Amino acid sequence: MILVAGSANLDFVVRADHIPSPGETVLGSDFQTFPGGKGANQAVACARAGGVTTHMLLALGEDAFAVPLEASLQGAGVQMHTLRAPDHATGVAFICLSEAGENAITVAPGANSCLRPEHLPPLDGFGHLLLQLEIPIEAVTAYALAARAAGVQVVLNAAPARPLTPELLGAVDILLVNEGELATVSQCQGSIADCLERLQVPTVVVTLGSQGCCARHLGVLHLQAAFAVQPLDTTGAGDTFCGALSAALSQGQSMADALRYASAAGALACTRLGAQSSIPKACEVLELVHQQADVNHAAALSALRTLCAFT
Ligand code: RIB
Repeated sequence: MILVAGSANLDFVVRADHIPSPGETVLGSDFQTFPGGKGANQAVACARAGGVTTHMLLALGEDAFAVPLEASLQGAGVQMHTLRAPDHATGVAFICLSEAGENAITVAPGANSCLRPEHLPPLDGFGHLLLQLEIPIEAVTAYALAARAAGVQVVLNAAPARPLTPELLGAVDILLVNEGELATVSQCQGSIADCLERLQVPTVVVTLGSQGCCARHLGVLHLQAAFAVQPLDTTGAGDTFCGALSAALSQGQSMADALRYASAAGALACTRLGAQSSIPKACEVLELVHQQADVNHAAALSALRTLCAFT
């Protein structure tokens, strides 16, 4: 069983030709709302991967924005532990999406900021706790320490990026970061290999977008090339990777198999609009893995090794 403790936001998405620069106004096209939030996206990704019961601790306001968020989590089969925050609005995110599929996101946390250390449900029966950084850092730290004390594996997606205390990092078993988050957390401006050297966390996974991903797992390096897709909207692709990887590991898959599964899930999430709406089911992911069985060909792995500066 996996417990995800984190944010739930309603995403307000506008598509435009490009993401505006400071002071610039751009005319967008259609506007849509989608269930989002890094925590809720990752919980849905865990649940859609199948084979693992997924619970989520979240905080919502008593407003209309909470309704589609609960419906999406429930529809995916996530068991919710919901804190109601009557004085706060449900979290929202304003997302500008460019024609190239890139995005710029501003989050108003609202009710997400109400999660406190005492809200963590009992950890009996959970194998993994999956955390992100869109809820108060005091709560994230307390949850990680409680899980460590209970023998539950702590998985932290350090997003949005911020420096972490040694206390929190010391309680993390698996750290999931992109390149920018790795630089922030390791306080290193060097190569990926250099940054990894600075981190004592037993497992660190670094996502590299269309280049693929790499991991240092219990002293062993792993490389996983990216699956080839035509991106439409990358929102939630990183969350899909985190949720899918956690689900695969909690099912007992090897790190190499879990990285392959998570990469395919994240790639598919880029081909559809929205965050939770874009997260694929296990059968779709396995089909892509089968279709692109040669994804880790020698040239792709060599390019990845060079990018990461692994010798
Ligand atoms: O990672 C994507 C998510 O970031 C969006 O769904 C948005 O809500 C923000 O939390």
